[in-house]
Amino acid sequence: MEESAQTESMGTKPLLRVLDGKRETPPPVWMMRQAGRYLPEYRAVRERAGGFLDLCFNPALAMEVTLQPVRRFGFDAAILFSDILVVPLALGRKVWFVEGEGPRLEPLSEAKGVRLLRKEADDKILAPIYETVRCVKRELGAQTALIGFCGAPWTVATYMIAGQGTKDQAPAKAMASAEPEVFQHLVDCLVEASVGYLARQLDAGADVVQIFDTWAGSLSGEAFGRWCVEPTKRLVTKLRQRKPGAKIVGFPRGAGKDLERYIAETGVTAVSVGNEIDRAFARDRIQSRVPVQGNVDPEILLKGGDALAREVDDVLQTLGGGPLIFNLGHGILPQTPIAHVEQMLKRVRG
Ligand code: CP3
Repeated sequence: MEESAQTESMGTKPLLRVLDGKRETPPPVWMMRQAGRYLPEYRAVRERAGGFLDLCFNPALAMEVTLQPVRRFGFDAAILFSDILVVPLALGRKVWFVEGEGPRLEPLSEAKGVRLLRKEADDKILAPIYETVRCVKRELGAQTALIGFCGAPWTVATYMIAGQGTKDQAPAKAMASAEPEVFQHLVDCLVEASVGYLARQLDAGADVVQIFDTWAGSLSGEAFGRWCVEPTKRLVTKLRQRKPGAKIVGFPRGAGKDLERYIAETGVTAVSVGNEIDRAFARDRIQSRVPVQGNVDPEILLKGGDALAREVDDVLQTLGGGPLIFNLGHGILPQTPIAHVEQMLKRVRG
């Protein structure tokens, strides 16, 4: 029963057809960080909710902000409203958000703290997020895909070690090279917790999940293999053991030419490509093997006008001949005018 219902819904959602390797004209569109501060209706709910994490853990309000951009723009996908740092929270770490600055965590600077970390996320803490997935799923039209997500082990570890965002991920890199077995333990905990977290999102109705490796670009060579590729591969393999056929989009932002290695080894269904990626390279070396998502520059979306028109046309011309999910190369900037999003959509959809 469930199997046939799933197959049926796959047939009607353009984004899922692309993930099956088909080309769609026009391509399905959504935007990273599409629920966010550039929308007045988001700011209004955010104010009502109190803190940012209060919003993430309130299913009624999280559902509302998840649906806002879909209602306003008719995007082909909704992305669950949550954050990658709920996983450290469920592993027993303190996490909070400072208004106007960003996330803070109690730093994990010592080997002792890492060794004491539990491997199982506390599912009671994450339960409201699964409830949000179920609520959103009920509200979405038959054409709109629901995307769940988590942070990749490397990226989440960079925040857990430093206790905040860092420019060059130096604290995590320092631990990874000075005490690799300690850092490996942290990564292993995050792989296990993330498998469970994504499996539960799929159980609750997510059609696809995306793994955000925002800081993959700060790794290279052997370190890229050990801390980006290998944990992602394990996450993908274990998730598919629990959820056979799971559709998984990888986003190793900043990976550049290492993207080839990432898709060859991790087994992701598709990749989201950042703005560092040359589009001809993405077409010839990546899209020939897996569907590609991306990669309008958020700075150009902010500018709008002719520059935006040229950027949209270039994405369509270079990548529109194969399986493409039209998106940004990274999250939309909070100052972006809504009119520019409308301009982009009109240009994509004709
Ligand atoms: O894309 C979406 O609309 C879904 C929701 C989503 C959020 N965070 C909501 C959010 C997703 C997919 C994320 C992922 C996330 N969170 C990443 C990976 C992707 C990326 O953008 O690189 C990272 C590194 C985080 C951690 C995080 N959360 C940071 C660094 C910040 C502060 C920066 C900022 O934009 O303020 C957040 C806060 C956050 N997460 C906001 C939103 C809408 C803004 C908080 C607010 O409303 O005040």
